[in-house]
Amino acid sequence: MKVGILGLGTVGGGVVNVLQKNSESIERRTGVKIEVVLAGVRDVKQKRICDTSNIKLTIDPFEVVNHPDVDVVLELIGGIGLTKELVETAINNGKHVITANKALIANHGNELIKLANKKQVRLLFEASVAGGIPIIKSLEQGLSANNIESLAGIINGTGNFILTDMKEKGRDFDDVLKEAQALGYAEEDPTFDVEGIDAAHKLSILAAIAFGTELQFDKVSTKGISDITTEDIIHASELGYTIKHLGIAKRAGEGIELRVHPTLVPNKQLIAQVDGVMNAVMVKSDALGTSLYYGAGAGDEATASAVIADLNDIINNQTSNHILGWKSQQKLPVIKSDDIQSEFFLRLLVSDIKGVLAKVTGIFNDHNVSIDALIQKQADENNNAHIAITTDKVSTKTVMSIKKSIEASAFNQAEVQIIHIELLD
Ligand code: NDP
Ligand code: HSE
Repeated sequence: MKVGILGLGTVGGGVVNVLQKNSESIERRTGVKIEVVLAGVRDVKQKRICDTSNIKLTIDPFEVVNHPDVDVVLELIGGIGLTKELVETAINNGKHVITANKALIANHGNELIKLANKKQVRLLFEASVAGGIPIIKSLEQGLSANNIESLAGIINGTGNFILTDMKEKGRDFDDVLKEAQALGYAEEDPTFDVEGIDAAHKLSILAAIAFGTELQFDKVSTKGISDITTEDIIHASELGYTIKHLGIAKRAGEGIELRVHPTLVPNKQLIAQVDGVMNAVMVKSDALGTSLYYGAGAGDEATASAVIADLNDIINNQTSNHILGWKSQQKLPVIKSDDIQSEFFLRLLVSDIKGVLAKVTGIFNDHNVSIDALIQKQADENNNAHIAITTDKVSTKTVMSIKKSIEASAFNQAEVQIIHIELLD
């Protein structure tokens, strides 16, 4: 099996290293010798994390996708412009393609998979979601007897790395982000990680596979972690919760919810203990019940593990193309974010004057929303007090109306923070 790689950075370098160090066991398992013959990079002189002495390097990525000796192309560059053209060319040339590029699949997967099916080649992307965790194979193969009811996961390693260090070491957001970048976890544009876009790409892929629908990335309601403060983390912790950035896909009525946002998770849930760059996806399905998939969500060799598993699938002809592996697709409308029902956490900063608490709870009462728990802290030197409140289930539209009423009140001193709660039972 002759392989051409596009990109020899964190993931491409990891793939070469794992193929070299585990060549014997991979060959025994697949029955085939895998040889990396050609790799496209920007700069052939750049120092690499892998040995490239037996690989021809080129700065023309089209040489890789057009090369007659290449059977499988691994697209490990990233981005959606050039890579779309490269993947299309490879497919049109009758080559199988494996990619770790969730942005490409989320944005153009529907058309690329159709093209791959037409050309009878495989387009596989296990590494695009949750790094090394074989979550796509678990949904497609291990859970194929089940109806999936919901999934909820920590699917961005960089975001989880930042939230963990903010909570455990009280470190500054930007400082931890720089470390995640240095470790090769972050996207080329790290706003994709911190603003939830990367997680939304991944959630749209997971949901399409779990529910047998088309990819619907543009319908994912998306919020990142950039406005989470240490105040939120401390108050959540006092109420028995940990803040995690979750991607959630669940059946609701006749449709599905697709949402990505910071979430308070009860400390007793296993997912609350998933720290650092680790990812975890909790799946609820009718036959198996709840199952949890855990592992490294980013990094060179962890991601390489998923890329090479796809190579094994191609060699052994084990799966049809993802998503279109469903013989017929469902049409499931995505619920509008305003109509999503959830428990919520609200954090307020109010003037510490008589009667304020009654006014705050009055606003909840006016909206017919029941308060589940409430903490008020002693006032600070400016005579302002933090209040943290958790609610029973309520629509996003209603909680946004509560926020507006509080922010319009004279006693209010700062923007009201609102974070979803997921009990995950
Ligand atoms: P890197 O930035 O580490 O590597 C990108 C590679 O692409 C580099 O080798 C670079 O060449 C090469 N490249 C960039 N532009 C071109 C071009 N125009 N022509 C030829 N080669 C080019 O990225 P990662 O390895 O981190 O990510 C790759 C993909 O994997 C992305 O889609 C990412 O989202 C995904 N991914 C990343 C994970 C991770 O942990 N990092 C985990 C899961 C998925 P050069 O080295 O010469 O500059
Ligand atoms: N930037 C991504 C993350 C890489 O941190 O999860 C893995 O997809």
